[in-house]
Amino acid sequence: MNFEEAQNKLAQYGQEHVLEYFHELDKEHKENLLEQIAGTDFSVISKITSDIKKSPRGIISPIKAMTLEEINTKKEEFTKTGLEAIRAGKVGAVLLAGGMGTRLGSDNPKGMYDIGITKPVYIFQRIIRNLLDVVDIAGTWIHLFIMTSDKNHETTIAFFKEHKYFTYNPDYIHFFKQDMAPASTYGGKVYMENKDKIATSPNGNGGWYSSMQNAHITDFIHKSGIEWLNVFAVDNVLQRIADPCFIGAVINKNCAVGAKVVRKSDPDEKVGVICLEDGHPSIVEYYDQTEQLRNTKDENGMPAYNFGVILNYLFHERELEEICGKELPLHIVEKKIPYMDKTGRFINPSEPNGYKFETLILDMIHLLDTCLPFEVERNKEFAPIKNKTGTDSIESARKLLQENGIEL
Ligand code: UTP
Repeated sequence: MNFEEAQNKLAQYGQEHVLEYFHELDKEHKENLLEQIAGTDFSVISKITSDIKKSPRGIISPIKAMTLEEINTKKEEFTKTGLEAIRAGKVGAVLLAGGMGTRLGSDNPKGMYDIGITKPVYIFQRIIRNLLDVVDIAGTWIHLFIMTSDKNHETTIAFFKEHKYFTYNPDYIHFFKQDMAPASTYGGKVYMENKDKIATSPNGNGGWYSSMQNAHITDFIHKSGIEWLNVFAVDNVLQRIADPCFIGAVINKNCAVGAKVVRKSDPDEKVGVICLEDGHPSIVEYYDQTEQLRNTKDENGMPAYNFGVILNYLFHERELEEICGKELPLHIVEKKIPYMDKTGRFINPSEPNGYKFETLILDMIHLLDTCLPFEVERNKEFAPIKNKTGTDSIESARKLLQENGIEL
């Protein structure tokens, strides 16, 4: 993109200030900025006024989950189907590690966090160990795609190299960067990080599949015959990945997606609950759960919306291709955005000062026709690390890991 093209693109979105310091830059920095302007989708910012009011929800009704009891009666059959799919190379795993982990308060990627007590035990190490459990049983390697972001890509790769991929086969690990979105003031002007760089942040975990396409990872997936993608969050150190029983159940039920779910610990637990919305599978995030939704009971007198998602999904890849043209709702989130002020000083704000723009993986579920909510035991599979202390923290995860016989 040349200077004029950049000027025109910015003018279209009222972002001309991005080129304010262009004349001061040397050739290389000028090129960097032009390249970033070419690759940035400024249209998200125009949604500040139109989309910030949430569109009303459809009609919510309960969805039937496959409970532990039912799973136990068919465990062997599901596991056999799942292992066959894994051995045939039809299953890949996708680790979402592009987040900023701000609540944990570390500058490093979340996966590099050491949760050990008597020895180092890194979050990435736990995840690889969990996947290796299945590799050992199946007797075959499983392709693992790791999504990073511009902010943590090199650090993440270097960390894996330094630790020799925690004994995983490096030929089966593929890193790719997720796409970034610009960050703006409340008035909708993009912030500049410095004179040649627009302030950006990862575009939310809903950006995983389009980022895979943009990074040409999907070409590799098609070539290698992978049909199912098990997508999971970096911060649940207890979850089973590429779990043969889960895979087999979703295949046998012929669903477009499977979602691992846990019974809510109490009605106020901060997890999204799975349901039907206008007859399609859907997830209601905790902040959107009304009193009425929390209090609705099923025919047995149990809470009707009692299954929370743990961000561990198995998607049929072909179905993802079909929905990828559809737009996901944009979440406009107030955040602290480091920026360069008018005098050229770099400011790291202590209070939120603008918006970031994200799409969420949970909104992808609603675009699909069929979903299998698959219950897992929360004490064996759900130990998310979001905070330093308290709920969903390093402390609570350590306790659960130890209860499951994992030495720390
Ligand atoms: P969270 O929603 O917990 O966000 O991510 P986060 O960025 O890790 O943490 P906070 O909110 O800043 O404290 C859930 C999962 O989605 C991934 C995260 O890495 C985590 O595995 N994620 C999130 C991405 O891969 N990209 C994103 O843009 C956002």
